[in-house]
Amino acid sequence: MKPSVILYEPLPADLRSQLEARYQVTEVSNLDSHTIASHAAAFSEAVGLLGSGSKVDQALLEQMPALRACSTISVGYDLFDLDALDARRIALMHTPTVLTETVADTVFALILASARRVTELDSWVKAGEWKKSIGPEHFSIDVHHKTLGIVGMGRIGMAVAQRAHYGFGMNILYNARKHHPQAESRFSAKYCDINQLLEQSDFVCVILPLTEQTRHLIGEEQLSRMKPSAILINAGRGPVVDEQALTRALKNHTLYAAGLDVFEQEPVPANAELLSLPNVVTLPHVGSATHETRYGMKRDAVENLIAALDGKLEKNCVNPQAVNPA
Ligand code: GLV
Repeated sequence: MKPSVILYEPLPADLRSQLEARYQVTEVSNLDSHTIASHAAAFSEAVGLLGSGSKVDQALLEQMPALRACSTISVGYDLFDLDALDARRIALMHTPTVLTETVADTVFALILASARRVTELDSWVKAGEWKKSIGPEHFSIDVHHKTLGIVGMGRIGMAVAQRAHYGFGMNILYNARKHHPQAESRFSAKYCDINQLLEQSDFVCVILPLTEQTRHLIGEEQLSRMKPSAILINAGRGPVVDEQALTRALKNHTLYAAGLDVFEQEPVPANAELLSLPNVVTLPHVGSATHETRYGMKRDAVENLIAALDGKLEKNCVNPQAVNPA
């Protein structure tokens, strides 16, 4: 009998076959208690779990006593109770490399769209409002040669910095847990404390994972340090920015605009005040969502699960020390 695996996101046929060659695959649409109850035997036998977008917490782990590896089709793993996984020495695998360039492209789409009012003016033209030459009320602000502050200089931060430096001649400031010599040598990026970065940047781009330390890192006080002409971009996790405080800053024009791919609650409620503001560009959490990259993430997630169940944790494992303590 092949070992059992739970799949909670559909896979393209070729990747599914790769998984089925080794495992008995049970596909479910989510990980809620009703789903678990109706596939109780498969959950209790499963050694692997593959998917994204559902919480993997203590209550779920209790239903999966044989579980040895989780493989998420994402770089972020805030939906996983890492302490509970570590305590059971269950490997957590993720897809940190394949999506880097695509997410950096999305960040630049938000920078350009919010600075140059792309979506707002697009709606205006399509509504038939363009009846004569435009005037200053339709002008926007430049991106090139401005100062970009990057909060979180990981892989995606580096790819954003590369675009900003080589493509747009931007001056780059950054804040991260530690200095990044390569960002400094390749893109002339300057390390600053968070307050200096907020005060000096024309664009503040937040690309951070969600942890207890980063939750509401950008709140009322931090937003008030930004220039009224500045733009905030969030392409990491919604709760890193206090959305109520951001809404007030945008409404009061103490901030020029925001470009958001992520929200405190997703899907963002249709009646959220933020959505009624003209100076916000929104996307439905599509940072990595191109056909090519989503395929690549699924391919990596399948390979990661197979590797982890074979005891190979060198690549893409979040918690190798917990699984194999030295
Ligand atoms: C997307 O948000 C991811 O974590 O991959």
